[in-house]
Parts: sequence; C-alpha cells; structure tokens
Amino acid sequence: KPITLIGAPTDIGAGMRGASMGPEALRVADLKATLESHGLFVEDLGNLAGPSNPWSPPVDGYRHLDEVIAWNHHVHDAVLGALQQGSLPILLGGDHSLAIGSISAVARHCRAQGKHLRVLWLDAHADFNTSVITPSGNLHGMPLACLCGLGPTELTGLSDQRPAIDAAAIRQIGIRSVDLGEKQLVHRMGLDVFDMRYIDETGMRHTMEQALFGLDENTHLHVSFDVDFLDPEIAPGVGTTVPGGPTYREAQLCMEMIADTGRLGSLDVMELNPALDLRNKTADLAVDLLESLFGKSTLMRRA
Ligand code: ARG
Ligand code: MN
Ligand code: MN
Ligand code: MN
Repeated sequence: KPITLIGAPTDIGAGMRGASMGPEALRVADLKATLESHGLFVEDLGNLAGPSNPWSPPVDGYRHLDEVIAWNHHVHDAVLGALQQGSLPILLGGDHSLAIGSISAVARHCRAQGKHLRVLWLDAHADFNTSVITPSGNLHGMPLACLCGLGPTELTGLSDQRPAIDAAAIRQIGIRSVDLGEKQLVHRMGLDVFDMRYIDETGMRHTMEQALFGLDENTHLHVSFDVDFLDPEIAPGVGTTVPGGPTYREAQLCMEMIADTGRLGSLDVMELNPALDLRNKTADLAVDLLESLFGKSTLMRRA
C-alpha cells in the first residue's frame, strides 16, 4: 500500500509555539527516503495551509477555536482524500488537536468500507478534556473527547456521524498525566487505558498484546502517536514533557508489535517541537520508530 505524507504545520492547539515546525523536521530527518529504503512507495503532498497562530488567550474555555476548526477541516479533507485513493496517510503534525480531523476522516472511511476501527493513542496525556474541565484551554488536550462527541459541534461534527468514534474503539497507551476532571471523564466514558503503571507492572509485550487483542482481517488500525509518549530523556523535542515514559527499547517493541498485526491503515505523528529539540534528535528518533512501525526488524521472525 502506498504511503501519503501530509504536513500540517501549525501549533494552533498547543500551549507553546513550535510544533508548527514538526513536519519539516521529520523531512530533514529523512522520513521519506527512510521509508522508501524498506521498499515502500511514498508520496509527500507537502504542507497544508491554514490560519496563522494569533497567540491569544482562551475564550469560553477554548484557545483559537476558529483556527483549530479551520485547520481540522483541511486535515480531514486531505486524510480522507488519501484514504479514498487507497493509500495510507501519515499526518505530520502539528499539535495533537489535528487528530480530530484525521481520525474523523478515518472513521468516515471505515464506515463507507464497512471496516472496524481500532485507535491506538500513544501519549503521555489522555487528551480528554472539555472546555469546562480544561486547565489550559488548549485544544490539543481535547481531541479524543471531541472524537467521542464531547466538544464544540464544529469539531464533533467533522465526520459523517456523531460521535465520530465509539469510546470502545480506543486504546490509550503510555498515559501518565491526566487532569482531575479529565480522570473522571475518562472513567465515565469507559476508555481502555494502559497507563505507565500498567506497563511497569506487566511489561510492554503484555500491554501491546492486550491493546491489539481482537483485531481481525476487517480492522483498520489507526495509530495516533504523540511524540511526548516517549520518555523525555530520549525525546526532549516536545512542548509538554512528562517524565517516566517508555524507553527506547519499549517504544521499539511497541512499534514492532503493531507492525506485526499487518493492520496499520493510518498514522498521526504529532507534537514534535523542533524549537525544543537537540540537533533534531527527537525527529531522528521518531523516524527510527516509524521504520519499526512499517516492518523493519533485525531478523526475519515467525509468529
Ligand atoms: N492535559 C493538559 C491540557 O489539557 C495537557 C494536554 C497535552 N496534550 C498534548 N497533546 N500534548 O492542557
Ligand atoms: Mn471541508
Ligand atoms: Mn501528549
Ligand atoms: Mn496528545
């Protein structure tokens, strides 16, 4: 299956500037040629255009809501276009609020094709806030809630159906920072959360076996990879670091086990912030991990 790279150079939903440079940093880290070296066909559509960041304070619990809506429309249309062409879209973020557009498009495509959807949310954060409970007003802390139908109608209604996805389709992995009201909402919605404690106690292998359990030939697997999932020691180039994330080895295993399912259908690579990085090392690491996600392994292995 061909791969389509879609750049979304904005930090409109974040609380810190710089994720707008993420797509270019991934290109500088040689994302396209690296995937091609594994025999994949990769087309880079370049960057989407959208409103600039006015850097204004939150209004009614949302910062830059109009701009976030505009960007998500562009992302939705580009991701849907790639899916309809039979390609596997990789959204190069950009902050994580753009996963609303991306996953809304994936959900719509899955319904049209009669496919089951499974969403893996790799993140230090639950991203399940609403305008009422958010401590920041930053929309990158709200995308999953919006996708589950909790949020402004312009964002919850991007897909052909509301909510865009069922909470039962989601598996959160690597979570270690959840706000107080957010915690209650995550429980109330019944999300399946594999937090860092779960990974510490049972290991990444068992965690991924659980998170990937029940996939079938008819499942479309979407991975929404917030780079702050990774431990900040190895991935400092993000705006909202939280200590105690997966190590290099754990992250590699996570990606390899996803690759082994053969079900990956779409991907977001979000929150990379080159302004905070060290000589592009976080972008280089992300590209390393994507190699594993697309099937690179040391030896040939059998199930
Ligand atoms: N929970 C915090 C908030 O709502 C942080 C969210 C961070 N999200 C992210 N995609 N990095 O502001
Ligand atoms: Mn549109
Ligand atoms: Mn995060
Ligand atoms: Mn996130």
